[in-house]
Amino acid sequence: MSEVVIKTRLNGPLLVTGPVKIIDHEGNVYDLTGKENVALCRCGQTKRRPFCDGTHKSCGWVAEDLVPPAPTTPAPPAPPAQ
Ligand code: FES
Repeated sequence: MSEVVIKTRLNGPLLVTGPVKIIDHEGNVYDLTGKENVALCRCGQTKRRPFCDGTHKSCGWVAEDLVPPAPTTPAPPAPPAQ
């Protein structure tokens, strides 16, 4: 079984690689025949929803999301004073 990978592009779409099925709100399946990856719009400006059409470049959309750092483990309590 192949792995699905979703990667954010800097100030651009979500690049989806792997065997996925994309279905609209009415249950219709998008034809992805022959495509090894698809770019899903996350700027909201595309004319080909849900796919990226490159408009994010001309509209100046800036993504500020990054993977947050892992939470740090709290330090153990200090031993009692003697
Ligand atoms: S991310 Fe490319 S058009 Fe929206």
